[in-house]
Amino acid sequence: MQAIRGMNDILPDAVHWWQMVERTAREVLELYGYREIRTPVVEKLELFARSIGESTDIVEKEMYAFADRKGQWLALRPEATASVVRAFIEHNLQADPLARKFYTIGPMFRHERPQKGRYRQFHQIDAEVFGIDDPLLDAEVMIMLCDFFQRLGLEGVGLHINSLGCPKCRPLFRDDLKQFLHQRASQLCPDCDRRRHVNPLRVFDCKVDRCREALAGAPELVRYLCDECARHFEKVQAYLAGLGVAFTVDPRMVRGLDYYMRTTFEVVTDRLGAQNAVGGGGRYNGLMRDLGGPDLPGIGFAIGMERLILLLQQGHHLAAGSPHVFMAVLGEKPVLEAFRAVQALRGAGIAVEMAYGGGSLKSQMRRADKLAAAHVVILGEEELAKGVAVVRNMKEKSQAEVPLSDLVEFFKGHILAARGQTPGFGPTPSK
Ligand code: HAM
Repeated sequence: MQAIRGMNDILPDAVHWWQMVERTAREVLELYGYREIRTPVVEKLELFARSIGESTDIVEKEMYAFADRKGQWLALRPEATASVVRAFIEHNLQADPLARKFYTIGPMFRHERPQKGRYRQFHQIDAEVFGIDDPLLDAEVMIMLCDFFQRLGLEGVGLHINSLGCPKCRPLFRDDLKQFLHQRASQLCPDCDRRRHVNPLRVFDCKVDRCREALAGAPELVRYLCDECARHFEKVQAYLAGLGVAFTVDPRMVRGLDYYMRTTFEVVTDRLGAQNAVGGGGRYNGLMRDLGGPDLPGIGFAIGMERLILLLQQGHHLAAGSPHVFMAVLGEKPVLEAFRAVQALRGAGIAVEMAYGGGSLKSQMRRADKLAAAHVVILGEEELAKGVAVVRNMKEKSQAEVPLSDLVEFFKGHILAARGQTPGFGPTPSK
């Protein structure tokens, strides 16, 4: 039996990257006032069709949709925004003044052709904010995204932004684009030839070469913005610039989902081949009303965790998962005392592994080496009699005798000293 194509196991060797990314995401999101929400992975198909849009690639081609035993049409969620908006409406969360900023982390499903960075089950860190129309928030959302990536030490990414206008100014653009595509209809693939009538903006999403070429010289939305949208976009840019965030205005970036208006953005990389978006998002002011809820504005983004982790792994080795201490025991007598010491260290939040079944010092040291333990504590009968243990620093190849009663304090101090060098990656002693 094998896993389904495009759906990956995350093995213990890789899972610490996931944990580190999730931990950092939670820290940053909570710092900016976001609270976690968890929604089901299955929703009514209609929710996605109505929010993402009937004529998008996601809804037309990529959804895992099925009828359940009662004949109700359901879908595995292809993204999280629609579900978070649904939950907000369903539970009347607007009554709660604290319920404005939400985040959720979990698997999404799209039936795309799998390749590096593109999978059928993938994971997103998703953030959504409701009820705030201020361009200051648009800037803050992007600044938080940059803050998060900076904390992770992510390199080689750029922020691209655009404005998609609003229902007031977009129709003008749509008409001109339709006109433009009409003149190039013979160059378009059959899908785009159909879309130019129903949803011409979606032609920008097409990956077929001849459609891309046909779009050379196409009208650009930023030139059609009404006064209000133009002012909003200017302010977003001024705030970003004012906080020293570098960005590029990309008038071609329309995003693949229909619910956006005004600000849209993507974090892109040139280090993952064709899958160049690590994250993306934007403003969606009409969505909550369209789904039957209050008329509250919304903005959010999602980060693709597989892509983010692929980028972080390039050229970096994260030796997490290794114990800080390996306890080697010589002979039968010290076993109980060693076991007590191991539990005391674990109680202080220090990761410890020990040699089950004893064995020679040589074989136990070999095991400690394989586990890449930072220190080995050696307890033999002689040490036990003196009430000490030998602590060997595996990296520096030095060793010292430490009283058994001081072991916890010794390692706590050691870890605190080492922490400054590799923030967030090492074991954390409890306070
Ligand atoms: P999206 O651009 O469709 O936006 O997806 C966000 C991110 O998810 C992408 O930038 C990419 O990193 C990752 N991603 C998408 N599809 C795949 C795939 N097949 N394999 C691996 N990674 C993938 C949304 O989903 C919106 N809901 C974002 C949003 C939230 N907008 C407002 N609020």
